[in-house]
Amino acid sequence: MASWHDYPATAQLNPDVITLPSPCLVLLIGLSGAGKSTFAARHFRATEVVSSDTCRALVRDDEADQRATTDAFEVVHLLTKLRLRAHRTTVIDATNLKRADRAHLLKLAQSAAVPAAAIVLDLPRALCHERNQRRQGRDFGPDVLEAQEARLRSDLRSLSEDGLEPIVILDSVAAIDSSRVGRATSSIGDASSGSPSESRPT
Ligand code: CTP
Ligand code: MG
Repeated sequence: MASWHDYPATAQLNPDVITLPSPCLVLLIGLSGAGKSTFAARHFRATEVVSSDTCRALVRDDEADQRATTDAFEVVHLLTKLRLRAHRTTVIDATNLKRADRAHLLKLAQSAAVPAAAIVLDLPRALCHERNQRRQGRDFGPDVLEAQEARLRSDLRSLSEDGLEPIVILDSVAAIDSSRVGRATSSIGDASSGSPSESRPT
């Protein structure tokens, strides 16, 4: 488990309400099995979520086909570029662990003058592994999650250097389950801004 000191100085740890600018690019960050897709479905409209797995399925009919990764991210980046250009809140449901992988997405946000935020689901690796064991298409060994965790830790601090704001860390199942997402009023216009989503949008 990470200690507070591993987190970026500007990070908010387990806030009750996550207040996001609107529109916003939201990077969900976490190991496979941390609950990113579950979190995205709970707090955001389906059309706001750009999922690397969904894009893999769109190009190869199989969301677990890792050979589709390059093509899938081309689709992720295109959708993100078009949505941000239209000032639509866009949530990236991918592991987003590497600074280099985040860089292109952040550039798209910058080009569209849309702020970027990070929500890190930082659960114990053992729990993620246990969850993955019960899932179809996630039958990889513990070494995969070990490598993912090493990457998460080594690149976490760059979030503040790269200008993400807010940076929210949720480090327990209870904190993830009780969190709510609110949206600040927009200065650049987004029809989805306004009242807090209080979790599930309709
Ligand atoms: N899950 C759970 N309890 C939660 C959240 C998720 O049991 N509070 C389960 C989900 O049902 C799923 C697994 O944990 O079977 C992983 O959750 P998911 O949201 O799919 O995780 P992701 O982070 O999206 O994993 P991946 O990167 O592999 O897509
Ligand atoms: Mg997922």
